[in-house]
Amino acid sequence: MRLKWLTISLITLFFCTGLFAKASTIQKDFINTQTEAFADSTHPYALIAGGSKGIGYAIAEAMAHRNYNLILIARGLDTLIAAKQRLESAYPVHVEIIAKDLSFDKSAEEIAQWCIDKNIHLKVLCNVAGFGGTNDYLSLPIDTLRYMIRLNIESMVTLSLTLLPLLEKNSPSYILNVASMAGFAPIPEKSLYSATKAAIISFSYSLRYQLKSKNISVSCLCPGPVYTKPSIVKDTKDKLGWFGKQMVVPVKKVGETAVRKTFKRRMIIVPGGFSKTISVFIRIFPQRWLASLYYQIGKKPPKE
Ligand SMILES: NC(=O)c1ccc[n+]([C@@H]2O[C@H](COP(=O)([O-])OP(=O)(O)OC[C@H]3O[C@@H](n4cnc5c(N)ncnc54)[C@H](OP(=O)(O)O)[C@@H]3O)[C@@H](O)[C@H]2O)c1
Repeated sequence: MRLKWLTISLITLFFCTGLFAKASTIQKDFINTQTEAFADSTHPYALIAGGSKGIGYAIAEAMAHRNYNLILIARGLDTLIAAKQRLESAYPVHVEIIAKDLSFDKSAEEIAQWCIDKNIHLKVLCNVAGFGGTNDYLSLPIDTLRYMIRLNIESMVTLSLTLLPLLEKNSPSYILNVASMAGFAPIPEKSLYSATKAAIISFSYSLRYQLKSKNISVSCLCPGPVYTKPSIVKDTKDKLGWFGKQMVVPVKKVGETAVRKTFKRRMIIVPGGFSKTISVFIRIFPQRWLASLYYQIGKKPPKE
């Protein structure tokens, strides 16, 4: 009798553990396996890596406004679901969501394979997800620095390459890579962040020529400060003062400008008149002057 109860308990425990494990996998790594969702082939798709919030969401909204269906990628499933609900209730588009960490080795390939299997009518790829912050090289653990390189550079390179067959098939098509004004010159305080953004700018310039014959246009968004989180507000005010405040562009405007200029096939996109003017000087001044200037700015103690 006791053996019978023990067996029943073990079987129940086994099933409960299995169900729990399955639920947490879905939460961590969610990808839609249904096909019905793709009945709408009337509108083309834009895939936005990092499209659940911030600049990525603003780009998603500007795309939806132009009747593009969307595929949004981010880690947090709840934020993705909220973004999908907001966009689908405001625009007549279908929004697909994929919860994945783009810094993982296989994520970009799995996403691309999923799009290819579903034969998505993909016309636009936006590589937005990125990691930075006030702390950088010398003050971060090596694993965090590797994460920055993997997310900012590797995921962009892999998604662009693996989705190339679909973009080519649906050409004319577009790739929008998100760098930063921080990529125009070395910033000692954010040395690795500015280096990853410089790599995105350089790569985008070259890729633009490599893909010209395939009718795929490549653009690179290089915004100044955009108030997407409190740390950016504080850093901008502390370090850049009056200049910083003039450079700030509202996130919605950044998304709208990025999409409008991507479709106009612009290479470098700097939203905001003031930031654009500053960026012209940054791009013509010698890098050693700018590194020295940024070094002085970086030494300013943060205000309490
Ligand atoms: N804000 C600025 O002032 C500014 C200025 C210049 C350039 N940029 C660049 O613009 C891009 C967006 O910045 P933001 O301020 O809009 O950032 P944000 O508000 O933090 O949004 C980042 C987006 O990327 C997703 N994401 C982050 N890490 C991810 C990962 N490992 N795997 C998959 N998705 C990930 C986020 O969702 P989850 O967190 O749920 O994953 C979110 O959807 C970045 O590349 C940034 O460097 C920003």
